[in-house]
Amino acid sequence: MVRFFSPKVLEGQHVLISAGPTYEAIDPVRGLTNLSSGKMGFAIARAAHEAGAHVTLVAGPVSLPTPRGVGRINVRSALNMQKTLNVLSQNATVFISAAAVADWRPMQAAEQKIKKDGSGQVPTLSFVENPDILAGIATGVRALNNHLFCVGFAAESEDLLAHAQAKRKRKGVPLLVGNIGPDTFGQDDNALLLVDEQGEMDLPRAPKLTLARQLVAEIARRMPAPKP
Ligand code: CTP
Ligand code: CA
Repeated sequence: MVRFFSPKVLEGQHVLISAGPTYEAIDPVRGLTNLSSGKMGFAIARAAHEAGAHVTLVAGPVSLPTPRGVGRINVRSALNMQKTLNVLSQNATVFISAAAVADWRPMQAAEQKIKKDGSGQVPTLSFVENPDILAGIATGVRALNNHLFCVGFAAESEDLLAHAQAKRKRKGVPLLVGNIGPDTFGQDDNALLLVDEQGEMDLPRAPKLTLARQLVAEIARRMPAPKP
């Protein structure tokens, strides 16, 4: 149900959200991926729509229904996701990078299924690093000119605050959201740590939709005022 009573803090904004994992093919039937369920990104899409924004979700392979009123484009690989986000970010005013982008992809996907040869030998895989999609968009002209507000996420297994602040600066984003682990993947609850230039702020453990609504309010609060 649409929350008619929710404040329309993102009215008039075009919000672009990436969500879920990416899938990097090894051969036609195998690939490299990760445990991201996409739940947090999808919850943010719903919350941003409730807040009055025009919302587009770019989703890696996940089995989640599209939130009502939200536009969705399905992608598979990191390169695929990057191409789509680079285009759509040209018309967005907010970009929230919630996707768990694979850091590496196999150097070359085999055209045919790799077969066992019976000798017990295992295949050797070589990897190349994927491009940093968020850093590319956050250091682009639109973001630098304050036309696009970029929000990153951080998946860390230790020392969240220090890593999150360093990552925020490295990516060039005004706001970075850390998942307070240990096992948020696939869960319906989470706790978040928000870091910005001012410092840090905790969003205590709650259902992901509740956190998404709080995050949307925090984003709206930090957006540059519209030019007269
Ligand atoms: N991200 C991205 N493109 C990549 C890797 C990450 O856009 N190739 C984005 C994620 O969507 C997230 C942020 O960057 O918003 C941080 O992702 P994370 O995996 O925590 O950081 P990395 O920079 O990949 O560093 P590492 O995994 O080594 O900690
Ligand atoms: Ca990573």
